[in-house]
Amino acid sequence: MASVKHYLQFKDLTRDEYDYLFARTRWIKEQFKAYQQYWPLTDRTLVMIFEKASTRTRLSFEAGMQQLGGSAIYLNTRDSQLGRGEPVEDAAQVISRMSDIVMIRTFEQEIIERFAANSRVPVINGLTNEYHPCQIMADIFTFIEQRGPIQGKTVAWIGDSNNVCNTWLQAAEVLDFNVHVSTPPGYEVEPERAGLYGTDHFEQFADPMEAAKGADLVTTDVWTSMGFEAENEERLRDFADWQVDADMMRAANKDAVFMHCLPAHRGEEVSAEVIDGPQSVVWDEAENRLHVQKALMEYLLLGRINS
Ligand code: CP
Ligand code: NVA
Repeated sequence: MASVKHYLQFKDLTRDEYDYLFARTRWIKEQFKAYQQYWPLTDRTLVMIFEKASTRTRLSFEAGMQQLGGSAIYLNTRDSQLGRGEPVEDAAQVISRMSDIVMIRTFEQEIIERFAANSRVPVINGLTNEYHPCQIMADIFTFIEQRGPIQGKTVAWIGDSNNVCNTWLQAAEVLDFNVHVSTPPGYEVEPERAGLYGTDHFEQFADPMEAAKGADLVTTDVWTSMGFEAENEERLRDFADWQVDADMMRAANKDAVFMHCLPAHRGEEVSAEVIDGPQSVVWDEAENRLHVQKALMEYLLLGRINS
């Protein structure tokens, strides 16, 4: 099954493939906005497996597949055999014989890798403990829409060095931009876990204000990711000085945008003034999940299309 193309982490695609996908996303989004029917995936079935909660990921994949003429089936751990210990390899064999493409949201990256190794069809990472590649594809598409090419720009990541942060770091290597990361002590980036080749594209800062200086994009995420709920109280204390607020946005470039993958906690990782303020592009960012993932599914199933 080695010839099947999966999307398990950001670096699974090249810069050239991202350039194609962003152009394709623009076209697919235009069709959607103009109410133009576009059904390249008629009769194709997407299976979505959720081992963690979701609003945006489920909605954008399910709506996206329907809009491309296909259908989507939702499975979760609670009411499938996955929650009762069926080996992931067996699940992959069966699910991939009955569908054309699979999206999985799960815990360790190793689980999705084992699934993909036993799948006859493309597998997409809808978030693992380590990565969230579809999110960063949408975020970068949003940046390009708002401000132009991301190459050479600076992204400030303030907060936890989690799955979304790791994916920004991989994206910086693939697309050649810089990431300033500021985390509280003890929560620093682990380059190996982030899947980085080197440290050329990121710099760690003890002071979040220093990280924000000169940034073209400031971004953050919840202090406690799904699966880490037991650490919530401790994290609330440890992260208290890592809120993105108006002062921090003032330290960034004047035309910097603010992003957050959502769901957000106003008053924790971001102030209401920032997320609801004029520099925030979070609603476009969320919407773009739909458009980039449609381009991604089309690409994994049909290859490049000339439009
Ligand atoms: N950003 C994101 O993936 O949101 P959901 O958890 O709602 O899917
Ligand atoms: N880092 C968060 C992202 C949610 C979309 C989590 O993993 O819970």
